[in-house]
Amino acid sequence: MGAFCLRWLLVWQCFLIPVWGLDFYKAAVYEHPTVLRLNLTIPSTREGALRLMQKNLDKYQEQVHEASKQGVKIIVFPEDGLHGFQFNSRASMFPYLEPIPDPNVVQWNPCLQPTEYNGTEVLYQLSCMARNGNMYLIANMGERQACELSDPQCPADGRYQFNTNVVFDAEGTLIAKYQKWKLFRIEIYYNKPKTVQHVIFNTPFAGKFGIFTCFDILFYEPAVSLIEHYGVKQIVFPTAWMNKLPLLSAIEFHQAFASAFGINLLAANQHHPEYNMTGSGIYTPLGFPYYYNAKSSEGKLLVAKVPIITSIKDHSPEHSKSQGTSAFLQRNSHNELSVLQQQKVGVKLEQTDPLKHPTLSHMDNPGDTFHASMMSDNYTFIPLTGVQGNHQVCSNNLCCHVAYEHANTPSNLYALGAYDGHHRVNGSRYLQVCALVKCAGSKYDTCGQGVTNATDIIDFKLWGNFSTRYIFPEILASEMKLYRADSRGWDNNDFYMTKKGMSAGLVTAALYGRWYEKDNLSK
Ligand SMILES: *[C@@H]1O[C@H](CO)[C@@H](O)[C@H](O)[C@H]1NC(C)=O
Ligand SMILES: *[C@@H]1O[C@H](CO)[C@@H](O)[C@H](O)[C@H]1NC(C)=O
Ligand SMILES: *[C@@H]1O[C@H](CO)[C@@H](O)[C@H](O)[C@H]1NC(C)=O
Ligand SMILES: *[C@@H]1O[C@H](CO)[C@@H](O)[C@H](O)[C@H]1NC(C)=O
Ligand SMILES: *[C@@H]1O[C@H](CO)[C@@H](O)[C@H](O)[C@H]1NC(C)=O
Ligand SMILES: *[C@@H]1O[C@H](CO)[C@@H](O)[C@H](O)[C@H]1NC(C)=O
Ligand SMILES: *[C@@H]1O[C@H](CO)[C@@H](O)[C@H](O)[C@H]1NC(C)=O
Repeated sequence: MGAFCLRWLLVWQCFLIPVWGLDFYKAAVYEHPTVLRLNLTIPSTREGALRLMQKNLDKYQEQVHEASKQGVKIIVFPEDGLHGFQFNSRASMFPYLEPIPDPNVVQWNPCLQPTEYNGTEVLYQLSCMARNGNMYLIANMGERQACELSDPQCPADGRYQFNTNVVFDAEGTLIAKYQKWKLFRIEIYYNKPKTVQHVIFNTPFAGKFGIFTCFDILFYEPAVSLIEHYGVKQIVFPTAWMNKLPLLSAIEFHQAFASAFGINLLAANQHHPEYNMTGSGIYTPLGFPYYYNAKSSEGKLLVAKVPIITSIKDHSPEHSKSQGTSAFLQRNSHNELSVLQQQKVGVKLEQTDPLKHPTLSHMDNPGDTFHASMMSDNYTFIPLTGVQGNHQVCSNNLCCHVAYEHANTPSNLYALGAYDGHHRVNGSRYLQVCALVKCAGSKYDTCGQGVTNATDIIDFKLWGNFSTRYIFPEILASEMKLYRADSRGWDNNDFYMTKKGMSAGLVTAALYGRWYEKDNLSK
């Protein structure tokens, strides 16, 4: 093991790093203000589709050129970045689609062999960009695949339409493609592939990467499965993420996901603040540069050095399955990256800290709970009263606790919320959440609404007796600043996190738990 220190959020922090982890590579994600269709009522032709996509390809080309000057080895572009997200039918999408040969079956370099397949103008340009920029390139595009009407799942129009990520190596060869599994509600113009795909590609500079798309990240398949069963520790992630506060803003959840698993996540989002789409990042166990800008209409090329955290172990799926799920920070974990997370020097709470051993006997106002809706779920809340305190609130089998202390005079209403149940809006999923939120106003029914500004500086310990071990710790401060917990982990049956000395007002601190096994159970 070696030691590694960096200045992060104005504080020097040190990490223990396994010696094999000291190499870095440069990665880029591009938050792209996709040029969208101007008039949705005019039916598209292939020529019109290519004209629109050319405007976006030209922007991509500029980014690759810039990234190349900075020595970038891999660049990620967002979901829907070439054709936008405004389609109302399969037919309106059709002119934007290309056939994409299976890279497991054929080896094809579109830049060198442009006439091999018909109707692949976009693939050709992406391939040449990768080749000329000498970098791995990941883009999202629409795919069409003719099917026989004898195939019972073949749509009536005789083709499948997939939401597909393509991966080119630095020579321009198409080395992988991934068809999105968890389509979002509005993606009626796409088909779900017949089986979930666990796509992994190899690079000479950093080993293996996994890949998935946007909404996939909220579910076990393929996202968590890639990490737990295939040993993936680096992920490329095109997304068109519509931010939803308090819990699911892009940077907030994506950082929490990367941090919980101790992986690198290269997330490229759309830049369309008018659709609440902004927030891209290069989230790593060491640092997490991110971009969030709801005011400017400009895109952003984010470039960062990324530590290589390829596992030293050979993870075949069978091998990993027999070991159980190894990657996640779990009860009694001896996982290397969990150790890396936990052994930060100098950020532990002191033994004498009042937040360290709060007990239930100090509980204030135990009966004073209320209900309010947060992101369409019915949370049970308890208000935080006073400069410091200690509260508990429960929902079904989950009890959440907070011990807190204001560093300045409290001026905003805060509440601790608990939710243990299904979330049924925009994709059914089972949640267990403990969330300390700033309320939007001074009335209880404003707790759970999205806010972005806060002035109250609060030290806290937040914990709950979760039944799932998949818990994503989020800390969001005023003006969309992200923080990472000082410490977190299991203490008997409780998962906790602590944070002290933030320099910005607290907006949301949440333990966002996902109980994947219960997603498909109706009650
Ligand atoms: C879109 O095109 C249709 C048909 O040409 C036209 O009637 C309509 O006014 C256009 N809408 C806009 C917003 O330009
Ligand atoms: C190539 O595609 C065009 C239209 O996209 C079509 O007219 C032509 O027949 C195709 N050629 C072959 C060989 O498939
Ligand atoms: C963006 O978010 C705000 C605040 O949550 C909401 O009022 C607005 O409707 C959202 N815009 C879109 C296009 O969804
Ligand atoms: C569901 O998705 C729509 C966009 O398709 C969004 O406007 C809405 O806010 C989402 N609702 C929740 C609870 O996330
Ligand atoms: C929320 O849950 C509580 C307790 O189960 C219930 O009394 C209340 O009516 C619910 N509120 C809504 C809006 O469903
Ligand atoms: C969590 O704590 C509450 C209160 O002590 C208890 O009723 C509940 O059963 C606990 N849940 C689990 C999963 O242990
Ligand atoms: C948040 O604070 C910033 C800077 O102080 C200000 O420009 C912005 O308008 C505030 N936003 C809200 C929603 O109050």
